[in-house]
Amino acid sequence: MGNIKVGLLGFGTVGSGVYEIIENYQERLESLLGKKVDLAGILVNDITKERGIAPEILVTTDFDEILAIPDLDVVIEAIVGIEPGYTYLSKAIDKGCHIITANKELFAHKGRELKQQAQAKNVEISYEASVAGGVPVIGTLHQLLQVNSVVKIEAILNGTSNYILSEIRNERTAFLDALQSAQTKGYAEADPSNDVDGYDAFYKIVILTELLFGQRPEWKWIERKGIRDISLNHIQLAESFGFRLKHVASLVYKDGALKIDVEPKVVSEDHPLYSVEGVDNAVVITGDLVGQLKLQGPGAGKLPTASAIIEDLVNVFNSVHHSPVVKEVKLLHDVDEQEQTWFVIGNSTDQFEGITLFEESIMDHHDRVTGRLIQATGREIKKLKAKDNDLTVYPFSGTPAQPVKKAFATA
Ligand SMILES: NC(=O)c1ccc[n+]([C@@H]2O[C@H](COP(=O)([O-])OP(=O)(O)OC[C@H]3O[C@@H](n4cnc5c(N)ncnc54)[C@H](OP(=O)(O)O)[C@@H]3O)[C@@H](O)[C@H]2O)c1
Repeated sequence: MGNIKVGLLGFGTVGSGVYEIIENYQERLESLLGKKVDLAGILVNDITKERGIAPEILVTTDFDEILAIPDLDVVIEAIVGIEPGYTYLSKAIDKGCHIITANKELFAHKGRELKQQAQAKNVEISYEASVAGGVPVIGTLHQLLQVNSVVKIEAILNGTSNYILSEIRNERTAFLDALQSAQTKGYAEADPSNDVDGYDAFYKIVILTELLFGQRPEWKWIERKGIRDISLNHIQLAESFGFRLKHVASLVYKDGALKIDVEPKVVSEDHPLYSVEGVDNAVVITGDLVGQLKLQGPGAGKLPTASAIIEDLVNVFNSVHHSPVVKEVKLLHDVDEQEQTWFVIGNSTDQFEGITLFEESIMDHHDRVTGRLIQATGREIKKLKAKDNDLTVYPFSGTPAQPVKKAFATA
């Protein structure tokens, strides 16, 4: 009985973690798999870097050399961007290898194609590490889907943004200072736009949507907002109500229609995402039978992410197979008529004339910045904003202290 032969693409944070686990936990892997795991080749970009890789392992910049490894069983991809990863994984599938990826950008763009290719070639494709790093959200959803219909997900999927929001609140600091702190601690890239503009969380919720419904949502109908415009004032004002601002990716499935958003939300203390702080990720899943459950943990980092990849490896070779789900869904993009609760921040009270107010908190007596919870449709909120450019409106999730009244009388 031969070993399981692995080709690893990338030796950065994630790739080096995979190497470490395979090197240091061989006995545990062998007891789980009944075979040794043989890391046979590693693809890198810069061959001159000193990496401390065991001399018997092939290290190359040429993917064809990885593919030419005799009896290669699986290719683990941990490089960045859509290409060349997509081409490499397509070739690996074509050769009959199972594939495992941590690359959310690649999988959000090309997951559907890779799944189809893998199905045609009868090989497995696993991507646990691509969403929420070490938090086992993909496996949990596969498990739940056997008997549940998942009707809602609310999640903090980007640790960098969550860290920055926690830092602004705890240190009473500005967005740029909090970003700099994240960069100093290695939580944010020099170019942070992928994280703070919401692209990273967007890719992850796209991957979850495809898993749940078997189809790719129209990207242009998914609202994506980042956290750059969130000020300390807004955070303090929300705090004065007992609320927090969180960057939330959400998916709601109702009556065959799906609504997906990635945006800052104000949440109340009893909301499961309220207490998720720092670089942690958390995913709150509502299934029609199980009800609500919450997964929380490290959404990134060397060993947590590599751990998710190795779990995939074990599942692939222990024949844990997940059948694809295909559901009829319509992605809602015109949601202006749906009534919901909003946290509205403004400088004056004029624009609220004629609105039944629930509660008001005046934070700064000079500036008279006020915050209000109101119940309104998206269309009404648009009208309100058209009256006052300085108005900031966040969707609200959770339980307010008192019932929120309708903001506008129906005509
Ligand atoms: N970091 C995390 O905590 C985390 C968590 C979840 C998912 N992910 C995902 O995992 C993937 C890897 O992330 P990372 O943080 O490990 O990145 P990283 O530290 O920047 O490492 C990237 C690795 O890929 C190699 N590489 C880049 N382009 C290449 C190319 N064209 N050909 C061959 N090798 C190439 C680099 O080679 P050199 O070493 O020679 O430069 C490097 O070893 C990304 O897709 C990321 O989104 C990361």
